[in-house]
Amino acid sequence: MTDRQTADTAETVPPDSQTVTSVEHWTDRLFSFRCTRPRSLRFRSGEFVMIGLMDGDGPKPKPLLRAYSIASPSWDDEVEFYSIKVPGGPLTSRLQHIRPGDRVILRPKPVGTLVHDALLPGERIWFLATGTGIAPFASLVRDPETYEKYGTVILTHTCREVAELEYGRRLAAGLLDDPLIGEMAEGKFIHYPTTTREESPVMGRITDLLRSGRIFDDLGLDPITPERDRVMVCGSLGLNTDAKEILEGWGLREGANSNPAEYVVEKAFVGEGV
Ligand code: FAD
Ligand code: A2P
Repeated sequence: MTDRQTADTAETVPPDSQTVTSVEHWTDRLFSFRCTRPRSLRFRSGEFVMIGLMDGDGPKPKPLLRAYSIASPSWDDEVEFYSIKVPGGPLTSRLQHIRPGDRVILRPKPVGTLVHDALLPGERIWFLATGTGIAPFASLVRDPETYEKYGTVILTHTCREVAELEYGRRLAAGLLDDPLIGEMAEGKFIHYPTTTREESPVMGRITDLLRSGRIFDDLGLDPITPERDRVMVCGSLGLNTDAKEILEGWGLREGANSNPAEYVVEKAFVGEGV
């Protein structure tokens, strides 16, 4: 190898890049992938990191990075991400073509509010997700701490169409067979998928199902109270705003790492959606 080739390689493969180990396409808008985990990456389930690809073919390509929730639990040897494919999106129009063996950049500095530390102790935990907002909860429902802390764990996932629920369905189905989590989750974990634009067993926005009380009837559970319940919300700005209003109306207060309370919210993305 010549000196010139060595320099090129050093520039195009940054030191914090990881190797993709598997990729799965769920719909024409959604895919997930796993990659190797940097030794330096310590995170709390529910947090997000910056990931991306090198951008530009010129002599000085730069990293093109976006925030991504880690979808795998903190005990996993690898790291999993669940991603949208935005048509013409600077990162995802390229990221959607990655294959095993390719390199992705992963900055091992996790942050976020969807963490157990931001909530006071409670009896039940509700994870309310729309679209790719399920990603942080894919981590949390596979974390033993979730079942040590709560007697009932409810994951709701709302998408426009049935096919968009598949990642969550596979996650929920695999949970009880999981050698580490299976026994802990048995009898505690509840999955509540809903659609808004295609026929399915439960239809409607989660906000409407909460307001009407239908979700409580469907699950045979008492309504949410600040004494008993803790809630994490992850979706579009619209969902987050509406869910906040409902939860505050029921007396829950927003928590933070520095000031734990009854609910926490995080945007699944910035912008109004595709
Ligand atoms: P961008 O220029 O970033 O986005 C273009 C437009 O696409 C946005 O304005 C928005 O309207 C729409 N859009 C972007 N992301 C989404 C999405 N996830 N769902 C629906 N519409 C979207 N994205 C993921 O796919 N998985 C994650 O786990 C994830 N976690 C995030 C965590 C945080 C805290 C934040 C702030 C964002 C997260 N995102 C996640 C969004 C992600 O950072 C990028 O926006 C996304 O990968 C698209 O990148 P892009 O460069 O292709 O398009
Ligand atoms: P709807 O079809 O009624 O808009 P998107 O694909 O646009 O990110 O939306 C994902 C899911 O989130 C859809 O089922 C959508 O329902 C739902 N949703 C969008 N906005 C809100 C909101 N303000 N409150 C509750 N659910 C919402």
